[in-house]
Amino acid sequence: MNAKELCEGSRANYANFITWVALDRSNLSAGRQLSVNYFIVAVILFFAQLLFGMIAATQFIFPNFLYDWLDFSVNRMVHINAMIVWMLYGFIGCVYWLLEDESGTEIVGLKLGKLAFGY
Ligand code: HEM
Repeated sequence: MNAKELCEGSRANYANFITWVALDRSNLSAGRQLSVNYFIVAVILFFAQLLFGMIAATQFIFPNFLYDWLDFSVNRMVHINAMIVWMLYGFIGCVYWLLEDESGTEIVGLKLGKLAFGY
């Protein structure tokens, strides 16, 4: 397999993956496309929360584990802050998901909402 075929293959795999995880947003309204961004960040932060929770739990058992680099109080704080932020992102995503349907209009300040994601 040459480099071009490899590249095309991985592009097709990527497209399949995006469809598989239902991130193909072309059929969604603009508000829902934005809400998917919020859901993605919420899921990433949720996994960050689990990771830091597990590191903190490990430090209960082995107090020296990563002590010099990330002590328990920092892990605990990141664990809880990640939880707060993923929940907020989840709520905001839900609002963007429902807003157009519930209000029967397009979202007026969508550009402002998109600004948070840099586009
Ligand atoms: C892999 C899963 C998880 C692990 C290993 C874990 C571990 C921990 C640890 C070690 C603490 C510190 C407890 C202390 O200071 O005595 C903690 C606190 C906390 N965790 Fe988790 N956690 C997990 C998942 C979650 C989830 C899914 C949530 C909520 C959505 C959550 C919410 C909290 C809250 C609110 C606290 C602070 C409350 C307290 O200290 O009493 N955790 N977690």
